[in-house]
Amino acid sequence: MFANSLRLGALIWGVSGALTLGWAAGDAVERGRYLVEEVAKCYDCHTPRTENGEMDRTRWLKGAVLHFQPIQPIPGWHKTAPDLTPAGRLFQKWGEENLFKYLTTGLNPAGKPAGPPMPTYKLAPEDARAIVEYLKSLK
Ligand code: HEC
Repeated sequence: MFANSLRLGALIWGVSGALTLGWAAGDAVERGRYLVEEVAKCYDCHTPRTENGEMDRTRWLKGAVLHFQPIQPIPGWHKTAPDLTPAGRLFQKWGEENLFKYLTTGLNPAGKPAGPPMPTYKLAPEDARAIVEYLKSLK
């Protein structure tokens, strides 16, 4: 009897632990989506547009040729923004830890900020982690 309730207790504890972990990961992805889509607007540069100028949802954050350029020349201006999804070269080359470091320090693995017009973000660790989790959830 006692052993059974102990086992039941362990089962409930295990299930609730797994649920909590699952929810925590889900929350991070959702927060990352919110930061990417509603705050930092990463897609504005990193998602290509369709012919009528709308975001191409089928290639979300898959890298793009920018749809704008400066009126005055800006040294080091980049015309393209890389693929940010796990399938992309950047993610595979950097790995999630370098991406996390970059988003918290603004410095890439070469120890430099990215070229314009990529903004330099120095995000709080939990926000950077959420963005990485969200990017990992993409195809
Ligand atoms: C205003 C346009 C713009 C926005 C907004 C933007 N990016 Fe970028 N991003 C770029 C461009 C252009 C590059 C290429 C710069 C380079 O290669 O140095 C780039 C490069 C990067 C790189 C690679 C940096 C390197 O040193 O190679 C990462 C990672 C990145 N962006 C992530 C993000 C994330 C995550 C967000 C949103 C939180 C974001 N970007 C928002 C334009 C943008």
